[in-house]
Amino acid sequence: PRVAVLASGRGSNLAALLEARERGELPVEFVLVGSDKASAGALRLAEAANIPTLALDPRSYPDRRAFDLDLFARISASGAEWLVLAGFMRILDGEALTPWVGRMINIHPSLLPKYRGLHTHRRALEAGDHEHGASVHFVTAELDGGPVIAQARLAIAAGDDEHKLALRLLPLEHRLLPAVLGLLANRRLQWDGHAVRFDGQLL
Ligand code: GRF
Repeated sequence: PRVAVLASGRGSNLAALLEARERGELPVEFVLVGSDKASAGALRLAEAANIPTLALDPRSYPDRRAFDLDLFARISASGAEWLVLAGFMRILDGEALTPWVGRMINIHPSLLPKYRGLHTHRRALEAGDHEHGASVHFVTAELDGGPVIAQARLAIAAGDDEHKLALRLLPLEHRLLPAVLGLLANRRLQWDGHAVRFDGQLL
């Protein structure tokens, strides 16, 4: 299956996907890595892996929706069948992403449905939570609101601050995202927009 990835930052989750593929654990072809930041480290990783890249500057568009429509048009043109948001820091227009519902996943650093949106580690700490984690979910028009596919959990440690907690969570994210994409790529996990099925069985 052909996969496109969107990232806005350093791309450690993208790196985890590329490494999983190198290890032969992820039978996918990465056809595009796109970003809203031309300086994103994720684009450098893609270039090093000879994966086509795309950097669209939101300031070149009259409005958010125009940016999103062009972005999705380029993703479709790449031949991608799946779309992975790996640290992509823009909220996408619900209508523009509609054709991708069921084929688009996101990794979010919280135990959804807790802490949708930003600053998740800080919010978990401020709430006095004993555990935190990351979720991979199908993307829908509702921000961080699509069906959760799988989660990774870790105990919040006494000395944790926002930075330490984020750093301790990353390695779990780097195992979770490739594992979920692998299930989707092998078509063992499917969502038709209503029900999630694993190996054909309703979950
Ligand atoms: C990760 O923590 C991810 O959960 C969140 O943004 C961060 C991206 O990091 N969406 P990276 O760019 O993949 O290193």
